[in-house]
Amino acid sequence: MVRIGIIGCGSLIGIARNHIAAYQRCSDAQITACYDLIEGRAAGYIDKLGLKDARACASLEELFSLCDAVSVCTPNCTHTELTVAALKAGKHVLCEKPFAPTLEECDQAIRYAKLSDKVSMIGLCYRDIPGFVYMKQLIDEGKMGKIFFVREEQGGDRFANPAVQLEWRTQADLSGPGALADFGSHMMDICDYLLRDSCGPIAEITCMQSTCMEEREIIGKPGRLGPVTNDDVACWICRTEGGTLYNFTASRIGATFMLEIVGEGGKMIFHGDRPFELTLQLKDKNGPYTEKPQAVPVPESCYGGDENAPRTPFAINFYYEIRQFLDAIQHGRDTLLTLERGRYIQSLIQTAQDSADLGEILEADPE
Ligand SMILES: NC(=O)c1ccc[n+]([C@@H]2O[C@H](COP(=O)([O-])OP(=O)(O)OC[C@H]3O[C@@H](n4cnc5c(N)ncnc54)[C@H](O)[C@@H]3O)[C@@H](O)[C@H]2O)c1
Repeated sequence: MVRIGIIGCGSLIGIARNHIAAYQRCSDAQITACYDLIEGRAAGYIDKLGLKDARACASLEELFSLCDAVSVCTPNCTHTELTVAALKAGKHVLCEKPFAPTLEECDQAIRYAKLSDKVSMIGLCYRDIPGFVYMKQLIDEGKMGKIFFVREEQGGDRFANPAVQLEWRTQADLSGPGALADFGSHMMDICDYLLRDSCGPIAEITCMQSTCMEEREIIGKPGRLGPVTNDDVACWICRTEGGTLYNFTASRIGATFMLEIVGEGGKMIFHGDRPFELTLQLKDKNGPYTEKPQAVPVPESCYGGDENAPRTPFAINFYYEIRQFLDAIQHGRDTLLTLERGRYIQSLIQTAQDSADLGEILEADPE
């Protein structure tokens, strides 16, 4: 049994709930401790979710004394500090994405992870969304042939409401970039994961950003406005070493979650609101399009191997992420979601941010 501690119980979105729901499906894990910087939040959370075996902890040290592994579900600027603290205390760590606002912070955490024999993993959890698993299968089987171009859009709409207040996510010093890092981390991980073998790694990036609502109310100061210091919307284009263009849009003020891949073998489209389906319009690589696009269900073989897995969007990929973490801890299985991978994705985000700041096309670092 792996005893789990949750760091950061959540108030605004509260991704910790998704981690907990996934752990609860695993008979080899038990939530034993929760800690949040804001007093009372952990206790209220344990109560609300009925976590009978969990203690609300008054400090990180107390939490570490009650668990073997932690999920770090706190704002981006705290990720590496908490990851290092957990590793130093001898705990396995699953750290939420994006890894950290700066590469220096990522490097520091990686140094500690290398000195530790514990599992450390980054929460880039979209790879197990059934539609993406099916896309990978079709690409790896060669159905798409040469990839011509890729278009991906992702985001949320919570910030479309001007009444949403300034929060850590809107502050560059606490979050790093805004939509670019928040959604872009998943987006670049997915595209690179699906397509690197066909298209090569990302070689160049050009990015533009905008902040649509430049001021919002300061939390705890009714009527007083403060500046939003990162992007609401980011649009960026990457060229891969093989010459393929990836066209990305991330927006927190309204967006459609979709990924379209166009190649010699036709088109495939993933729709975020239908993660168990792809729209396919495949064709002979040497001929024209002859069929209309068709909605095709993802074969159960792409997600159905584990009967404890939920069948609901979002819950399913968190489940497989947590399963990977527990399997790495208990059976020494390798995870592809290493802190190094988190650092690489952060380097792409940093290059996109630098490109937007400088107004230049920039070369990306190799992985
Ligand atoms: N994987 C995904 O798809 C996904 C989705 C949403 C959020 N996230 C990530 O999860 C993280 C948390 O996001 P959220 O939306 O849950 O945030 P949130 O603001 O809802 O919750 C964060 C919680 O952390 C607490 N906290 C802050 N500093 C702390 C510290 N030093 N020690 C302990 N607790 C602390 C806060 O009090 C708050 O309760 C972010 O990094 C975000 O990018 C990932």
